[in-house]
Amino acid sequence: MHHQKNLVLLGPPGAGKGTQAKELAARLGLPHISTGDMLREAVREGTELGKKAKAVMDRGELVSDELLTGIVKERLSKADCEKGFILDGYPRNLSQASILEGILKELGKDPVKALELDVADDVIVKRLSSRRSCPACGAVYNLVFSPPKKEGVCDTCGTALILRDDDKESVIRERLRVYHEKTAPLSAHYAQEGRLKSVPGDLPPAQVLEALEKAIG
Ligand code: AP5
Repeated sequence: MHHQKNLVLLGPPGAGKGTQAKELAARLGLPHISTGDMLREAVREGTELGKKAKAVMDRGELVSDELLTGIVKERLSKADCEKGFILDGYPRNLSQASILEGILKELGKDPVKALELDVADDVIVKRLSSRRSCPACGAVYNLVFSPPKKEGVCDTCGTALILRDDDKESVIRERLRVYHEKTAPLSAHYAQEGRLKSVPGDLPPAQVLEALEKAIG
């Protein structure tokens, strides 16, 4: 199979992975696959996975690799991933990177290309404490950078916006710590294989998007 765009978005919490993945997905006609969104949906629906994941997520730690493998493999097997996909939030550590390589081999797919959003820690804390999310449709706002038209309410579906349980400052710090310890080493891993492009994430969203499109080629 030729011309697969199998993409992975890397970057710290709040780097803008979700924001950019949605835009890229629309432009490239690829599915946006966010393991964070999938886990939050499982929590909302009260599934077994959701019950196991909730407390771990609220502490800002990583859910176990085992719990993720099945949902990622199932999602990547779907027909809409044939031409490619945009993975957001997976892999999260070196062992997930090798699990992903195994899944792709098994499904007969090309290896991924990794795109990294580079954003400093102090910018992250500011962004995440002012993020507001729609629990119904998943739309994401920012009180400082992209507020909803009507205060506290989703532009798209009218639902009351929430602060994510893991967007409290103490949990944001823990997520950053976990990122530096477990996730940041992925950049070196993909760079070593010549499959990493880094773009500055601390620019207006439209400029970040442009840089990402250039990096994808
Ligand atoms: P997950 O949902 O993946 O969270 P994350 O990586 O912490 O990423 P975020 O969703 O917080 O940020 P983002 O980079 O998408 O930024 P966004 O675009 O929203 O994971 C949550 C938890 O689930 C984990 O802690 C873990 O427990 C678990 N989990 C998930 N995947 C897992 C895995 N594979 N293994 C194990 N556990 C897993 O932007 C942030 C804010 O900034 C928004 O308000 C936005 O409007 C604003 N913004 C975006 N871009 C810009 C810009 N250019 N300028 C100014 N503001 C901007």
